[in-house]
Amino acid sequence: MPLIHSVRRRRVNVVLAVMAALASAGLIDAAIDVAEAQQPNRSAQLIKYRQALYTVMGRDFSYLGGMARDRVPFDAAEALKRASRVEVMVDILPEAFPEESKDGNTKAKPEIWTSKADFDGLLQELQTRSAALTAAARTGEEAATKAAIRSMGEVCGQCHDKYKSK
Ligand code: HEC
Repeated sequence: MPLIHSVRRRRVNVVLAVMAALASAGLIDAAIDVAEAQQPNRSAQLIKYRQALYTVMGRDFSYLGGMARDRVPFDAAEALKRASRVEVMVDILPEAFPEESKDGNTKAKPEIWTSKADFDGLLQELQTRSAALTAAARTGEEAATKAAIRSMGEVCGQCHDKYKSK
Protein backbone atom coordinates (compact mmCIF):
# COMPACT_ATOMS: atom_id res chain seq x y z
CA MET A 1 0.00 0.00 0.00
CA PRO A 2 1.39 3.45 -0.83
CA LEU A 3 2.60 5.20 2.30
CA ILE A 4 0.19 8.12 2.02
CA HIS A 5 -2.77 5.73 1.96
CA SER A 6 -1.58 3.81 4.97
CA VAL A 7 -1.09 7.07 6.87
CA ARG A 8 -4.60 8.21 5.93
CA ARG A 9 -6.06 4.87 6.87
CA ARG A 10 -4.33 4.99 10.24
CA ARG A 11 -5.78 8.45 10.82
CA VAL A 12 -9.28 7.25 9.93
CA ASN A 13 -8.82 4.33 12.34
CA VAL A 14 -7.84 6.72 15.10
CA VAL A 15 -10.87 8.90 14.43
CA LEU A 16 -13.16 5.87 14.48
CA ALA A 17 -11.64 4.60 17.70
CA VAL A 18 -12.09 7.98 19.33
CA MET A 19 -15.68 8.23 18.13
CA ALA A 20 -16.41 4.79 19.54
CA ALA A 21 -14.88 5.83 22.86
CA LEU A 22 -16.89 9.05 22.91
CA ALA A 23 -20.08 7.20 21.96
CA SER A 24 -19.65 4.76 24.79
CA ALA A 25 -19.07 7.67 27.16
CA GLY A 26 -22.39 9.17 26.01
CA LEU A 27 -20.59 12.17 24.56
CA ILE A 28 -21.87 11.70 21.02
CA ASP A 29 -25.39 12.08 22.40
CA ALA A 30 -24.29 15.23 24.18
CA ALA A 31 -22.73 16.56 20.98
CA ILE A 32 -25.89 15.88 19.00
CA ASP A 33 -27.90 17.69 21.65
CA VAL A 34 -25.47 20.57 21.40
CA ALA A 35 -26.01 20.70 17.64
CA GLU A 36 -29.73 21.25 18.13
CA ALA A 37 -30.50 24.92 18.30
CA GLN A 38 -33.02 26.39 20.77
CA GLN A 39 -31.73 24.43 23.73
CA PRO A 40 -32.47 26.31 26.93
CA ASN A 41 -29.19 25.02 28.39
CA ARG A 42 -27.20 25.24 25.17
CA SER A 43 -24.40 27.19 26.77
CA ALA A 44 -24.04 24.62 29.56
CA GLN A 45 -23.88 21.79 27.02
CA LEU A 46 -21.29 23.54 24.88
CA ILE A 47 -19.15 24.07 27.97
CA LYS A 48 -19.52 20.42 29.00
CA TYR A 49 -18.51 19.32 25.52
CA ARG A 50 -15.40 21.53 25.58
CA GLN A 51 -14.37 20.35 29.04
CA ALA A 52 -14.90 16.73 27.97
CA LEU A 53 -12.58 17.22 24.99
CA TYR A 54 -9.88 18.65 27.26
CA THR A 55 -10.40 15.85 29.77
CA VAL A 56 -9.98 13.14 27.13
CA MET A 57 -7.01 14.91 25.53
CA GLY A 58 -5.43 15.79 28.88
CA ARG A 59 -5.45 12.20 30.09
CA ASP A 60 -3.33 10.97 27.20
CA PHE A 61 -1.16 14.05 27.29
CA SER A 62 -0.37 13.62 30.98
CA TYR A 63 0.70 10.06 30.27
CA LEU A 64 3.08 11.46 27.64
CA GLY A 65 4.20 14.11 30.12
CA GLY A 66 5.07 11.28 32.52
CA MET A 67 7.24 9.72 29.81
CA ALA A 68 9.00 13.02 29.16
CA ARG A 69 9.75 13.30 32.88
CA ASP A 70 10.91 9.68 33.15
CA ARG A 71 8.10 8.85 35.55
CA VAL A 72 6.71 6.35 33.04
CA PRO A 73 9.10 4.11 31.08
CA PHE A 74 9.48 5.22 27.46
CA ASP A 75 7.61 2.97 25.05
CA ALA A 76 7.58 4.03 21.39
CA ALA A 77 4.34 2.25 20.45
CA GLU A 78 2.53 3.62 23.49
CA ALA A 79 3.82 7.12 22.74
CA LEU A 80 2.56 6.95 19.15
CA LYS A 81 -0.85 5.68 20.25
CA ARG A 82 -1.27 8.48 22.79
CA ALA A 83 0.13 11.19 20.50
CA SER A 84 -2.25 10.19 17.69
CA ARG A 85 -5.27 10.38 20.00
CA VAL A 86 -4.15 13.75 21.33
CA GLU A 87 -3.79 15.08 17.79
CA VAL A 88 -7.38 14.13 16.92
CA MET A 89 -8.69 15.94 20.00
CA VAL A 90 -6.53 19.00 19.34
CA ASP A 91 -7.96 19.20 15.81
CA ILE A 92 -11.46 19.53 17.30
CA LEU A 93 -10.60 22.22 19.87
CA PRO A 94 -11.02 25.25 17.55
CA GLU A 95 -14.69 24.29 17.24
CA ALA A 96 -15.14 24.16 21.01
CA PHE A 97 -15.12 27.91 21.66
CA PRO A 98 -18.27 29.36 20.12
CA GLU A 99 -19.38 32.72 21.51
CA GLU A 100 -22.44 31.08 23.14
CA SER A 101 -20.15 29.08 25.41
CA LYS A 102 -18.83 32.18 27.17
CA ASP A 103 -21.05 32.24 30.23
CA GLY A 104 -21.64 29.47 32.73
CA ASN A 105 -19.70 26.96 34.77
CA THR A 106 -16.48 27.46 32.84
CA LYS A 107 -12.87 28.36 33.49
CA ALA A 108 -12.57 29.89 30.04
CA LYS A 109 -11.83 33.59 30.57
CA PRO A 110 -13.94 36.16 28.68
CA GLU A 111 -10.69 37.52 27.16
CA ILE A 112 -10.76 34.52 24.79
CA TRP A 113 -13.53 36.23 22.84
CA THR A 114 -12.05 39.73 22.99
CA SER A 115 -8.56 38.53 21.90
CA LYS A 116 -9.78 35.86 19.50
CA ALA A 117 -6.89 36.21 17.03
CA ASP A 118 -4.28 35.73 19.76
CA PHE A 119 -6.23 32.82 21.24
CA ASP A 120 -6.70 31.15 17.84
CA GLY A 121 -2.97 31.58 17.24
CA LEU A 122 -2.26 29.53 20.38
CA LEU A 123 -4.66 26.80 19.26
CA GLN A 124 -2.95 26.80 15.86
CA GLU A 125 0.45 26.50 17.55
CA LEU A 126 -0.89 23.59 19.60
CA GLN A 127 -1.99 21.83 16.38
CA THR A 128 1.41 22.39 14.79
CA ARG A 129 3.29 21.00 17.78
CA SER A 130 0.83 18.13 18.16
CA ALA A 131 1.44 17.09 14.54
CA ALA A 132 5.19 17.39 15.16
CA LEU A 133 4.84 15.15 18.23
CA THR A 134 2.99 12.46 16.27
CA ALA A 135 5.68 12.64 13.58
CA ALA A 136 8.45 12.34 16.18
CA ALA A 137 6.68 9.43 17.89
CA ARG A 138 6.36 7.66 14.54
CA THR A 139 10.17 7.61 14.21
CA GLY A 140 10.34 5.76 17.53
CA GLU A 141 13.23 7.97 18.67
CA GLU A 142 13.10 8.51 22.41
CA ALA A 143 14.94 11.84 22.68
CA ALA A 144 13.06 13.46 19.79
CA THR A 145 9.70 12.24 21.11
CA LYS A 146 10.36 13.54 24.63
CA ALA A 147 11.51 16.90 23.25
CA ALA A 148 8.32 17.14 21.18
CA ILE A 149 6.19 16.35 24.27
CA ARG A 150 7.90 19.15 26.22
CA SER A 151 7.53 21.55 23.31
CA MET A 152 3.81 20.88 23.11
CA GLY A 153 3.41 21.16 26.88
CA GLU A 154 4.76 24.72 26.77
CA VAL A 155 1.76 25.81 24.70
CA CYS A 156 -0.70 24.24 27.19
CA GLY A 157 0.90 26.33 29.92
CA GLN A 158 1.03 29.54 27.87
CA CYS A 159 -2.66 29.38 27.07
CA HIS A 160 -3.76 28.35 30.56
CA ASP A 161 -1.80 31.25 32.08
CA LYS A 162 -3.54 33.72 29.83
CA TYR A 163 -6.99 32.32 29.14
CA LYS A 164 -7.95 29.79 31.83
CA SER A 165 -8.93 30.82 35.32
CA LYS A 166 -7.56 28.83 38.24
C1 HEC B 1 -5.48 27.92 23.30
C2 HEC B 1 -5.72 27.70 24.70
C3 HEC B 1 -5.45 26.37 25.35
C4 HEC B 1 -4.47 25.47 25.07
C5 HEC B 1 -3.36 25.58 24.04
C6 HEC B 1 -4.65 24.38 25.99
N1 HEC B 1 -5.72 24.62 26.80
FE1 HEC B 1 -6.39 23.39 28.28
N2 HEC B 1 -7.92 24.67 28.63
C7 HEC B 1 -8.10 25.89 28.03
C8 HEC B 1 -9.28 26.55 28.57
C9 HEC B 1 -9.81 27.90 28.18
C10 HEC B 1 -9.83 25.65 29.51
C11 HEC B 1 -11.10 25.85 30.35
C12 HEC B 1 -12.27 25.17 29.64
C13 HEC B 1 -13.59 25.39 30.36
O1 HEC B 1 -13.62 25.34 31.63
O2 HEC B 1 -14.59 25.63 29.68
C14 HEC B 1 -8.94 24.48 29.53
C15 HEC B 1 -9.14 23.37 30.34
C16 HEC B 1 -8.31 22.27 30.39
C17 HEC B 1 -8.53 21.11 31.23
C18 HEC B 1 -9.65 20.95 32.27
C19 HEC B 1 -10.89 20.36 31.64
C20 HEC B 1 -12.08 20.38 32.59
O3 HEC B 1 -12.75 19.37 32.76
O4 HEC B 1 -12.37 21.43 33.18
C21 HEC B 1 -7.50 20.25 30.99
C22 HEC B 1 -7.26 18.88 31.63
C23 HEC B 1 -6.66 20.86 29.98
N3 HEC B 1 -7.18 22.09 29.63
C24 HEC B 1 -5.51 20.30 29.47
C25 HEC B 1 -4.73 20.87 28.47
C26 HEC B 1 -3.53 20.27 27.94
C27 HEC B 1 -2.92 18.96 28.42
C28 HEC B 1 -3.08 21.09 26.95
C29 HEC B 1 -1.89 20.94 26.08
C30 HEC B 1 -1.64 19.66 25.44
C31 HEC B 1 -4.00 22.21 26.90
N4 HEC B 1 -4.97 22.05 27.82
C32 HEC B 1 -3.86 23.26 26.01
C33 HEC B 1 -7.30 26.45 27.08
C34 HEC B 1 -6.24 25.83 26.45
